[in-house]
Amino acid sequence: MDYFKINGPMTLRGEVAVSGAKNAALPLIAMTLLAKNPVEISNLPEVVDIRTLLKLLHSLGATFTLEGNRAVIDTCCLTDTKATYDIVKTMRASILVLGPLLTRFGHCEVSLPGGCAIGQRPIDLHLKALEQMGADITIQAGYVRAQAPEGLKGAHIIFDKITVTGTANIVMAAALAKGKTTITNAAREPEVAQLCEVLRESGVSVEGIGTSELVIYGTDRRLIEIAPFSVIPDRIEAGTYLCAAAIARGSVTLTQVRPEHLEAVLGKLEEMGVPLQVEKDRIAVHPAAVLKPVDITTQEYPAFPTDMQAQFLALCTQAEGTSTIEERLFENRFMHVSELQRLGADITLKGNVATVKGPSKLYGADVMATDLRASSALVLAAIVAEGETDVHRIYHLDRGYEKLEEKFGKIGAKIERLSE
Ligand code: EPZ
Repeated sequence: MDYFKINGPMTLRGEVAVSGAKNAALPLIAMTLLAKNPVEISNLPEVVDIRTLLKLLHSLGATFTLEGNRAVIDTCCLTDTKATYDIVKTMRASILVLGPLLTRFGHCEVSLPGGCAIGQRPIDLHLKALEQMGADITIQAGYVRAQAPEGLKGAHIIFDKITVTGTANIVMAAALAKGKTTITNAAREPEVAQLCEVLRESGVSVEGIGTSELVIYGTDRRLIEIAPFSVIPDRIEAGTYLCAAAIARGSVTLTQVRPEHLEAVLGKLEEMGVPLQVEKDRIAVHPAAVLKPVDITTQEYPAFPTDMQAQFLALCTQAEGTSTIEERLFENRFMHVSELQRLGADITLKGNVATVKGPSKLYGADVMATDLRASSALVLAAIVAEGETDVHRIYHLDRGYEKLEEKFGKIGAKIERLSE
């Protein structure tokens, strides 16, 4: 198993190019199940989750080529509609094949994703919406078995809760359904918006893109022609490097970034006194004279993202005063707290609210990554900690951060990948 050895403290200076967004790429890859042509996708991040989904499509009979950040995926000749446990258990986002497979073939089986470190993460809302579209769904032997022999029918879906992959699944299901589907309380995340945009460019009528009410007119099982497209930049990777620069009091410029996707994150950094220079596709961060404490509540987009909670928690350990961070999306997404405490952070956890007293002098120690974003928070803390930190279980990090140690290397932080 790989781990990182980080010898802090370090100063950061230079430029980082932001990669394509993992969470945009995953639904876009699943969307190729709706295409009649081989689909070319560029700016894919080179991360494990992308390879996992490609492997899943391959297991269904799809073919693909993957060269660096560009893939061509051909799902014309699928031989199977069963997404098996061995792959789904390694990545929850595999559930994204449910909507497209069902709407195209009228039947499919997808393994239930099972438990997860950050919370329960049920898929009841995906299933309920598909049932409203006419699917007959049963759970048998750990699998979701879905049938709609005549195809899915448009419906008015009102999500009880905003769900990102749930919205993506229903958008894809609706694209080949018969008639009009309206999704109320849809996720507004840029990743969902890109999925809708690509579908619209492929001839599916989609209205309300980027809003909480989406209207999709399905093609009644006619496969669509999808032109080549490029994945949007990863706002969470960008936010992670912004926090890295801020915690290290460095001067770092992000390139290939979409600042309009990061408004809540940039707002909180500004509140903390971090000087930012924002241009069309670049953001420069400069050292804060005084890093101020902040109060954060995670919520759905466009509010502050849960995927940036851990990184800000690390940053708050260096702020002059008391910060609070309330996690509203996932009940168990604070596993990094005890690891940050091992480095010397003063954090008290009560329910879903973490109170961070800063600034704390951090010292290197052995710590364990518990999920993807928690891992990056540990890297940020290790950068300012005095001495050597070993971050174990970085396979979590490899799921979603492209070439992390190389990118940090370019801005002056030596992060060594070793095996244990
Ligand atoms: C997506 O997960 C992201 N994953 C997550 O990113 C992200 O943290 C999350 O959205 C929230 O922004 C991908 O895009 C692949 P949800 P998703 O359905 O879609 C509850 C990362 O680090 N819910 O929006 O699975 C759920 O339990 C990851 O890159 C139900 O109750 O999240 C949660 O409390 C981790 N029933 C809330 O809704 C359902 O059927 C939001 O979850 C579905 C969700």
